[in-house]
Amino acid sequence: MSEYSELLKRLDRRDLPQHIAIIMDGNGRWAKKRHLTRVKGHERGSKVVKYIVETAAEIGIKVLSLYAFSKENWNRPKEEVDALMQLLHRYLLTEGNNLIKNGIRLTVIGDLNSLSPKLRELITDVCERSRNNPKTRVVIALSYSGRYEIVEAVKSIIKDVQSGSLDSSVIDEQMFNGYLFTKDIPDPDLLIRTSAEKRISNFMLWQIAYTELYITKTLWPDFTKAEFLKAIINFQKRERRFGMTGDQLITQQIKSHGYPLNE
Ligand code: IPE
Ligand code: IPE
Ligand code: MG
Repeated sequence: MSEYSELLKRLDRRDLPQHIAIIMDGNGRWAKKRHLTRVKGHERGSKVVKYIVETAAEIGIKVLSLYAFSKENWNRPKEEVDALMQLLHRYLLTEGNNLIKNGIRLTVIGDLNSLSPKLRELITDVCERSRNNPKTRVVIALSYSGRYEIVEAVKSIIKDVQSGSLDSSVIDEQMFNGYLFTKDIPDPDLLIRTSAEKRISNFMLWQIAYTELYITKTLWPDFTKAEFLKAIINFQKRERRFGMTGDQLITQQIKSHGYPLNE
């Protein structure tokens, strides 16, 4: 039996993370180790995206967010940026119909105005055509920055207060959340970062307040379906306390599930 099927048996289907976010990092180092151009690393990385999306849908993950390109990544050499945009274009062209056919809904978050009109058009098309798909929702963060998202939310709130459509006394966390790109998406339960870097690099700063972090040495182009399952199984062993004591947590789990989750 393959490692993947073994791991699949160990997965607790009652306790799947609703939302998994991934910082897909290490394409450049993967290529460098092989004396290839960085673009080759990105090409290989985009193939990994395809089978991780399939795996997430297969096991019933509700939301999979993928950090594909940050606002800061615009500062990379022009050839690399162009190649990344081209790859994204190609991914949506070749995979768009497959995603739709497989019941996957695509959402893209970020500063989409900075993208070329052609890429924007393609994104809008796939997002629109998949909007009623019930299965897994794939959120691609493109030209994304967590700080930018928060500042944009603040600007919109100010606009609504000034126009009189929002009363400033009702501003609270839940309302603020409603102004983010991810307004209708639950916060990530698990954040995976490949390539061993122990940082967030401006990803979903607001949303990851209580997210469990999983950092692996594996470079993104080497990330496998089996390692994806390992990250979820590791997540399932953790005790998420949200500021409470461990005992309080067990009482709460028995109340809602009838049993403590980690036993
Ligand atoms: C992640 O791989 C892809 C993007 C950020 C677009 P990198 O290109 O950052 O790879 P490393 O970190 O240089 O190895
Ligand atoms: C984070 O990776 C952004 C994406 C994976 C898209 P970077 O490679 O840009 O992050 P830093 O620069 O190492 O923090
Ligand atoms: Mg990197």
